[in-house]
Amino acid sequence: MSNRALEHFGERYGGEGAAPRFEQWNAVIESLLGHRSVRRYAQEPLPEGALELLVAAAQSAPSSSNLQLWSVLSVQDAERRRRLAELAGGQAHVRDCGLFLVWLADLRRIGDLARHRGVGHEGLEHLEMFVMAVVDAALAAQNALVAAESIGLGTVYIGALRNHPEAVAAELGLPPQVFAAFGLCVGWPDPSTPTIIKPRLPQEVVLHHEQYGAFERSVGALEGYDRLMERFYAKERMGVQGSWSRHSAARVASADALRGRDRLRAALASMGFGLR
Ligand SMILES: Cc1cc2nc3c(=O)[nH]c(=O)nc-3n(C[C@H](O)[C@H](O)[C@H](O)COP(=O)(O)O)c2cc1C
Repeated sequence: MSNRALEHFGERYGGEGAAPRFEQWNAVIESLLGHRSVRRYAQEPLPEGALELLVAAAQSAPSSSNLQLWSVLSVQDAERRRRLAELAGGQAHVRDCGLFLVWLADLRRIGDLARHRGVGHEGLEHLEMFVMAVVDAALAAQNALVAAESIGLGTVYIGALRNHPEAVAAELGLPPQVFAAFGLCVGWPDPSTPTIIKPRLPQEVVLHHEQYGAFERSVGALEGYDRLMERFYAKERMGVQGSWSRHSAARVASADALRGRDRLRAALASMGFGLR
């Protein structure tokens, strides 16, 4: 039994809510429940073989029909990193982390395979294939993240690569039907910038039984989470204005709040995705 895993469970809900009566706490669970994003990195190289280990962990993820509709691209070049950091809204950690990986929804390889075998590939024109590729890429990336964290490395995803999908594709030399779904920074956490577990919504909000429960059943729990997160933002000096509910709702208030991603469908169409 790992006391650390139990502690992480408590922190995941801001100390509110009791851990379940569960006997099999272990190192995997401890590492999963202890996740926190890291945005400051020490200038120390990753262990030899880390990239290959992370890719093997990623490839060990399940894949829909084992089609493996994803690829990953490692960016080391300092100038390219700098340009990607700018495209991602000026996120310095893209530049400064030890390893920057871009996770690709890749319908190109299977299209090339079909062409090579002289068969049609009309199926690739459908939204379903795009969803499959993005889901596959996300599962693979998360496996790599879990492996990295299990050896003490820090990570943070970079969804902001989608702010400028065509420019990112040009920077990375992506052919049509390959989409940079998100990036992942990996590196040794800067010891002078400690990170802590960010509380999540109470389980009663996200866990439904048998049928989807109406929003109204969650209002009280959401208010409790808002109070918890306001204390968290203030303690961590995160500069977040107002409650979690307030800034989360603001993220969907207008198309502008999507920071350029409101034109994603058009961008994907120009990149060769049918999405029918
Ligand atoms: C797909 C995805 C994209 C993300 N994009 C960014 C990003 O561009 N920049 C960033 O600093 N964090 C990014 N994050 C990290 C989230 O902000 C973070 O996971 C969330 O605030 C919860 O914090 P935690 O990971 O420390 O628990 C992203 C996370 C996910 C899952």
